[in-house]
Amino acid sequence: MKYYRIIMIYLFFLLPSFLTEAASCLSEQAEETIKVIRGPYLQSGSQTGIIIRWRTDFPTSGRVIYGTSLKTLDREKTGQKDTTEHIIQLNGLKPDTKYFYAVGNDHQVFSGPDSIHYFITAPTPLNEKPIRIWAIGDFGTGDSISRSVKNAYLKYKSGRHTDVWLMLGDLAYTRGSDEQFQSAMFENMYDELLRNTVSWPSPGNHDIRSADSETQTGPYYDIFSLPVNGEAGGIPSGTEAYYSFDYGNVHFISMDTEDTSLEPVSPMIDWLERDLEANALNWTIVFFHHPPYSMGTHNSDMHWDSGGRMTRIRENILPVLDAHGVDLVLGGHSHVYERSYLIHNHYGRARTFKAKTMIRYRKKRYPTAYEKFDGESGTIYVVCGVSGNRPSAGAFEHPAMAFGSDQYKGSMAIEVEGNRLYGIFLDTRGEVRDWFRIDKNPRPLLTTPLWDE
Ligand SMILES: [Fe+2]
Repeated sequence: MKYYRIIMIYLFFLLPSFLTEAASCLSEQAEETIKVIRGPYLQSGSQTGIIIRWRTDFPTSGRVIYGTSLKTLDREKTGQKDTTEHIIQLNGLKPDTKYFYAVGNDHQVFSGPDSIHYFITAPTPLNEKPIRIWAIGDFGTGDSISRSVKNAYLKYKSGRHTDVWLMLGDLAYTRGSDEQFQSAMFENMYDELLRNTVSWPSPGNHDIRSADSETQTGPYYDIFSLPVNGEAGGIPSGTEAYYSFDYGNVHFISMDTEDTSLEPVSPMIDWLERDLEANALNWTIVFFHHPPYSMGTHNSDMHWDSGGRMTRIRENILPVLDAHGVDLVLGGHSHVYERSYLIHNHYGRARTFKAKTMIRYRKKRYPTAYEKFDGESGTIYVVCGVSGNRPSAGAFEHPAMAFGSDQYKGSMAIEVEGNRLYGIFLDTRGEVRDWFRIDKNPRPLLTTPLWDE
């Protein structure tokens, strides 16, 4: 009986305090072992602002420390408390400036600072230093193909910073779930690039299987923080489904060709017209998933293929792009590589293509070098759906296309310097398999071109 009383006293008075202590011990341990399991990654970069995002394995507070020298991270911004999804907007930055950063919580640093945790703010349009763009399409397999495409590009760029990273849809196979985004983008895939290069996506059909553009819900919309209010330039779109931004003298437009209306009178096309009307920059690059011209794994002439989207893009979007002199359109969806001549005003099927829709190159020595003058229409269309998928046999009979191949996996490296734009298709061996150039109001260059002719 005596022992029973002692045990009861112990349970009544001592056990609760033991349990509380054990719980606090465990939570301290969790705090000590908090890890970043996604990112950090950069979003919505502009001349004066940027968003830094990351995910932790346990809920905690968020904090970014940053500064223009790796040794002096003298600025700080705190975020939400008690969350695993950390989204911190930095403002008041200087254009074209390199900042180093680290992320953590109120009392610890989890990732950085070091030489790969940095961002460079966008330059003003007057700054004519070369702009490097990397574009990947249909890469979301999370497998060795995406990795080899990335490695070939990293080797090729050899230390040069990538200023703008475009994602042409189908970012996470097969249904755009959060887990699939994790393996296709974040886990042992693009880690280093994500830390120092702003990524700009457009949604593909596979991404939209788990997301909804009208309500802006699902993993695609949860993962990306995109400029809906014109924060990075351009006219506010009011939606993350489609948006625009400026980088130096290039205006970029991302469109949703999967889950937003492509009818001629519709909000996205109305916004596109207003955005292009207001654009005064030298170059315009538009990117979306479904290609208006392709005879690869998808056929843009077939009304049943992809719900007729490729036809509707041709008929309803391309006239707007032509009217505003858009220079380059990048897409994916077809798991091949295709690249058009500099063309305009072709909205029908392949067999209706007429020679007069081609703007002829003016230098015989370089048949893929084109010249274009202010106010002229003329667009090069690229299909690059092989940045994570094995290429499949294509017919490549579209007369708009100057080059097509189902032999290579690869990505697009594009460089804009002043009035010159270079594009190359780089395969997994680091070989350039196609290249093109557009000179606008031709004049001498200041530095060595991207592609050594
Ligand atoms: Fe697709």
